[in-house]
Amino acid sequence: MSTALAEATKSLTRRGYLDIEVDPTLDLIEEINKLKKEKNAIILAHYYQEAEIQEIADYIGDSLGLSQKAAETEADIIVFAGVHFMAETAKMLNPHKKVLLPDLKAGCSLADSCPPHIFKKFKEKYPDHVVVSYINCTAELKTLTDICCTSSNAKYVIESVPKDKGIIFAPDRNLGAYLEKVTGRDLVLWNGSCMVHEIFSHEKITKLMMRHPEAVFIAHPECEAHLLEKAQFIGSTSQMIRYTEESEATSFIVATESGIIHEMQRRSPSKTFIPAPPNNTCACNDCPHMKRNTMEKLYLAMKYELPEIELEDWVIEQGTACIDRMLEISKKAGL
Ligand code: 13P
Ligand code: SF4
Repeated sequence: MSTALAEATKSLTRRGYLDIEVDPTLDLIEEINKLKKEKNAIILAHYYQEAEIQEIADYIGDSLGLSQKAAETEADIIVFAGVHFMAETAKMLNPHKKVLLPDLKAGCSLADSCPPHIFKKFKEKYPDHVVVSYINCTAELKTLTDICCTSSNAKYVIESVPKDKGIIFAPDRNLGAYLEKVTGRDLVLWNGSCMVHEIFSHEKITKLMMRHPEAVFIAHPECEAHLLEKAQFIGSTSQMIRYTEESEATSFIVATESGIIHEMQRRSPSKTFIPAPPNNTCACNDCPHMKRNTMEKLYLAMKYELPEIELEDWVIEQGTACIDRMLEISKKAGL
């Protein structure tokens, strides 16, 4: 092992990624494609990734699509261009495969908002309730969950629970409140949220809508209720993309992470997409966790097969059933 690699491996836990200088003249697209073939690796990327990562990925999708793809892949190595909970889900579905995440510190504020040891106590107060958790949670939280869901299938998952059964919904209070509205069910909500979807400025969006009366305002259900009330369409990332493609409208104000606009624009090159502005001086809204992945980190992860997702056996044994149930419900619903 070279000294640089030995040093980088030692500091992996602290840094989260392999800190090795990449030759700036290297054609990373060519190198990554070579590594994919050599190692029979698949790159799965979320729509919130940088455009160049989306372009080199074998599959781009939302959280549901990515877990369905992870469940069916024949590849030996899964490289996850997304965040930690997504790579953990892929590992739970493929315990014997190598799952790489280019930067282990690509976390999620929503997953962090629900520490499993505190949730366990909360759950004890509702012993007869079914626990439905948004997939944006840690692998350990999944061990305390009956059925997982994503924003694409959450409605079907809630509806799959018998009407006389109480439901705890964790960790996203915004998606939870939205589901209460859509399904008419009372849910016991955990008080968590996503930093990216809660930062949108109501005032700036209102002004944008007045300046662009022709634009359709679309939002992800992780946004707060006051924004969702204004939205003309609410859906997961893949549903939002499909909506913009199929809609007769030609202009959209988009309230979710701005990485999604790359795919919207690719599918509908002549339409206009305006990122909904956040409550700060920026014009669009990036997830700092998603954006920790870079082409250099992706290349290094594939070359050295590090950093790898590792989960304890008991977590895989107790946490995977809720993902399997979610996949079954999605299949039945034709998703
Ligand atoms: P979906 O991929 O289900 O739309 O969720 C968005 C998100 O916040 C992923 O982290
Ligand atoms: Fe987590 Fe929000 Fe980033 Fe998605 S956008 S990874 S929910 S912090």
